[in-house]
Amino acid sequence: MSTNSHKPSKNRTLNLFANATQASIYVAHQIAELIIQQQKQGKLAVLGLATGNTPKTVYQELVRLHQNEGLSFANVVSFNLDEYYPIYPEDEQSYTYFMQEHLFKHVDIKPQHIHIPHTRCETEDIHDYCKEFENKIASFGGLDLQLLGIGRNGHIGFNEPGSSFDSATRLVNLHAVTREDAQADFGGLDQVPQQAVSMGVNTIRQAKRILLLALGERKSEIICKALQGEITPEVPASFLQSLAQVEYVLDHEAAGEII
Ligand code: PGA
Repeated sequence: MSTNSHKPSKNRTLNLFANATQASIYVAHQIAELIIQQQKQGKLAVLGLATGNTPKTVYQELVRLHQNEGLSFANVVSFNLDEYYPIYPEDEQSYTYFMQEHLFKHVDIKPQHIHIPHTRCETEDIHDYCKEFENKIASFGGLDLQLLGIGRNGHIGFNEPGSSFDSATRLVNLHAVTREDAQADFGGLDQVPQQAVSMGVNTIRQAKRILLLALGERKSEIICKALQGEITPEVPASFLQSLAQVEYVLDHEAAGEII
């Protein structure tokens, strides 16, 4: 599909906050409201979740809502966007470990409802595994809400520059900027995996609602490109401009010059 066919959606939803905490709490409360609304109807809430620095306070607030205000995750089904390849789930750099530490071990989500790409399968099996992951999302009726961060190179999930609008869950090569940004976690660039499994742009855009959270000055340049620049595979987050169900949640610093 040519990128020219993607027209910016006319009704861009932009929610600006004075600081990162306020923006994160807003996102957490949107997620909590969805969970409660689905509970009231006896339904599951199917969440697409993200990792990285950006969502940490979102998860902290969700844990607080569970511990202090009785928010139950019993009806939550989760799918994480991505995982390094290869990595062991028990490795501290793995996104399985991250999700356990920041959210899952603190709440009452059912273990069988947690889906994080597991990336120990042989390379020749990975294609089938990725298909299964997509089928699993579909079997729950799709994602009700997808939480996204954004990389400094414009990636969403690990849809790196060059990713297509129609991409599905797949094995990807990590971009130099992504690996550079991960080197502190891995204790050196040479320790950062070269590959990952990531939901595709097409997987993400099927979500009924998408919240992109960006915090801090280091995201302001890419936020400007992603929201106001050309829609191009070179900035995968720019694909979101063509979707009406996207809400951008930014703190003052990430918003930069955006109006
Ligand atoms: P960060 O990463 O939250 O650690 O900045 C965001 C992303 O790469 O999507």
